[in-house]
Amino acid sequence: MKFDIITIFPNIFDGFLTESLLARAQKLGIIKIGIHNLRKWTTDRHQKVDDKPFGGGVGMVMKVEPIFKAVRSLRPDKKTRVILFSPRGKKLDQKTAKRLSKYQQLILICGRYEGVDERVAEYIANEVISIGDYVLNGGEVATIVVIEAVSRMIPGFIAKQESALKFDHAQYTRPEIVEIKKGGKIKRLKVPAVLLSGDHAKIEKWRKKHGALT
Ligand code: ADE
Repeated sequence: MKFDIITIFPNIFDGFLTESLLARAQKLGIIKIGIHNLRKWTTDRHQKVDDKPFGGGVGMVMKVEPIFKAVRSLRPDKKTRVILFSPRGKKLDQKTAKRLSKYQQLILICGRYEGVDERVAEYIANEVISIGDYVLNGGEVATIVVIEAVSRMIPGFIAKQESALKFDHAQYTRPEIVEIKKGGKIKRLKVPAVLLSGDHAKIEKWRKKHGALT
């Protein structure tokens, strides 16, 4: 799968995409990540990517044409999904991550400033995604979230695919009892007995009850 990121802050992605599992997956050829500076598709001397909003108001709006040209140059086809990030989009969840992992290319458009000309959502993007009900400075962090969540669903990304969702229930490790001092008293923090019972059916039931995502 290829992730193509369109952004005006390409450096934001540096460390993040070159560490850990994402670095490994790129080395193994499981994923490819292209980072594209939107200003490359401007034609004026100032490499302008934004302009004043029609109807007045504060702030600037990202223009359609550079985004249109950037997407076109990345050669989208039937196996491509073009995604725009916006707090007004559909909320990301595990099901969406899984669905997106089936495409061969995701083109991820990072909005900045006060917004993006609505024609990008209407005519260029296939879907608009939000990562939560809060406003970020732009879509870059949301892009990183989507790349992580989607990559984990691609076969081979995680050595043991069944652990791709392992964080979906409460987990404990050794020691069985941890002692901490709180308000002058010693507290003994124990692991739920069922997890030590060796009864796999009971353990499964307990895990389902404690926070399964799926
Ligand atoms: N851009 C600004 N806020 C956002 C959010 N919550 N999700 C996705 N993109 C955004």
